[in-house]
Amino acid sequence: MKFTFYGHACFVIETGGKKFLFDPFISGNELAKDIDINSIEADYILVSHGHGDHVADLVSIAKRTGALVIAAYEIVEWVQKQGITNAHPMNFGPFNFDFGKLHFLPAWHSSVMPDGVYGGNPGGFLMHGAERKFYYSGDTCLMMDMQLIPRYAKLDFAILPVGGNFTMDADDAIIASDFIQCNKIIGIHFDTFGYIKIDHEKTKEKFKAAGKELILPKIGESIEL
Ligand code: NI
Ligand code: MN
Repeated sequence: MKFTFYGHACFVIETGGKKFLFDPFISGNELAKDIDINSIEADYILVSHGHGDHVADLVSIAKRTGALVIAAYEIVEWVQKQGITNAHPMNFGPFNFDFGKLHFLPAWHSSVMPDGVYGGNPGGFLMHGAERKFYYSGDTCLMMDMQLIPRYAKLDFAILPVGGNFTMDADDAIIASDFIQCNKIIGIHFDTFGYIKIDHEKTKEKFKAAGKELILPKIGESIEL
């Protein structure tokens, strides 16, 4: 099982011979200018919410790959209007896909599409149907609802924002990792904009001091999990 980082909150998880692309935002990310968008393959595209830094390349990659778009009902309505037919609308709850069970879960944030259309409620994903179970919180502050996750699954790792300002920072993500009972965290949503620049070494040290592992992936880097 492999995690590949494309910058900000965009990554691909490869598991069971399938590629799951999350929150496609590459063009417009100055830090990801060396990534060739056309080289990114996907069988599924999972969208946490409608902000530009999560959907900028959604329509183009969905059209090119034909991947199934999985997102909030309102986001699916929006992509269908852009000519994408292979899409699965969700609201908060579980569904058994051909790859296994996936929960779409709440996030405390906001969600509007780049053209101003309402994007429904923002969320995160709990993936049961992979070689290793993982949780991607999406953009959110720390929230008590995360305490439900250990009742659903024993996580192998989690992908959490650590940049602060728009989402949790590292201190909040450490508490979140207690809530979800998972000590292996991949940090995302950092460095892209001025408000979310972090000191990598200090941030990793904080996790280490709390008995946890924080991976801060480099853009373009793949990690075996
Ligand atoms: Ni956002
Ligand atoms: Mn964001």
